[in-house]
Amino acid sequence: MTQKQTAYLRKEGVVKYTCPSNIAIVKYWGKTDIQIPLNPSLSFSLKHSFTQTSVSYFFDSANKGLRFSFYFEQKKNEKFEQKLSVFFDRITDKFSWLNHYNLKIESQNTFPHSSGIASSASSYAALALCLSKIHQQLTGVELSCEEISNLARLGSGSACRSVFGGWNTWGEFTQKKSSNLHASHLHEHLHASFADIQDTILIVSKDKKEVSSTAGHQLMENHPYKNGRIQQANKNLVTLIEVLKNGDWNGFIEVAESEALSLHALMMSSTPSYTLLLPNSIKIVQLIREFREQNKIPVCFTIDAGPNIHVLYPARNKKEVNEFIQNDLLPYCDDKNFINDELGTGPTEIN
Ligand code: DP6
Repeated sequence: MTQKQTAYLRKEGVVKYTCPSNIAIVKYWGKTDIQIPLNPSLSFSLKHSFTQTSVSYFFDSANKGLRFSFYFEQKKNEKFEQKLSVFFDRITDKFSWLNHYNLKIESQNTFPHSSGIASSASSYAALALCLSKIHQQLTGVELSCEEISNLARLGSGSACRSVFGGWNTWGEFTQKKSSNLHASHLHEHLHASFADIQDTILIVSKDKKEVSSTAGHQLMENHPYKNGRIQQANKNLVTLIEVLKNGDWNGFIEVAESEALSLHALMMSSTPSYTLLLPNSIKIVQLIREFREQNKIPVCFTIDAGPNIHVLYPARNKKEVNEFIQNDLLPYCDDKNFINDELGTGPTEIN
């Protein structure tokens, strides 16, 4: 037995975290190297859409390499185990104890699997938090939030933003200290109407998407609008940070909708090109714009890499917007499915 093995502080244990998904207003789209974003992004963490992950570990003196099993909603999931192997390959140099312990990872989401909510963000962030806690229990070394965010990024880019609650940036840009390696929490005083922002997620389709985000990121590599996109995201980010401080909902709406539609325009203009929006997604977009115009209520949309629409609005307008959603938008959803969510405070350790 090596010196390192005998030095670990515990033989076994269990750690458990809940961690939210997040929704980007300025979108991460395109990456280089290992999960380094082409452009900076800004998101807020959700409250009700989260992953709960527990990791049980026990020392195995016979172990000569990583050993883990993964259960999603109580069922062993080999497909996800393969994806996780790539993640573990990226982190075993940091966590050498992984070579001497068996892990059982059990995970479940509060939101439906194919609801269009980024489950990779909440699940990799929850796993990174669990592994960091085990690292602390075995070695006595506590990782900072930034180090945990860096770890989550190696699983899925957007996951690095889920390690914090509230509003977070990820990626270098001119006006602020923000890193490509981890997310940074926006500490500035934000306007109250963005501290209680609501997000009603309209499920237009539950079908599995035709092209994964990871494949979409790769298509930015030789995209004809690559440089323009990078400039656009940088500009939108600087505008958005100001808007969040001064409560300018018109400015927010402009950035959010331009980012959402630009993301899909990039997909439509890549080679090969593809469309993830459905006729009902476009119908909802038009109805939101009409409603806003007629009622002078600050409500807008953002869209991730899929057909589902996130309706964003301040809590003070909840009543009117919920009525509008019920009466005018739900008919365009799959089985009238939707999820009411809002800005949340971040991960929690479960004891
Ligand atoms: C459109 O983080 O899911 O949601 O790094 O390959 O795992 P990988 O991609 P992922 O991409 C998210 C893209 C997006 C925009 C965003 O969340 O910023």
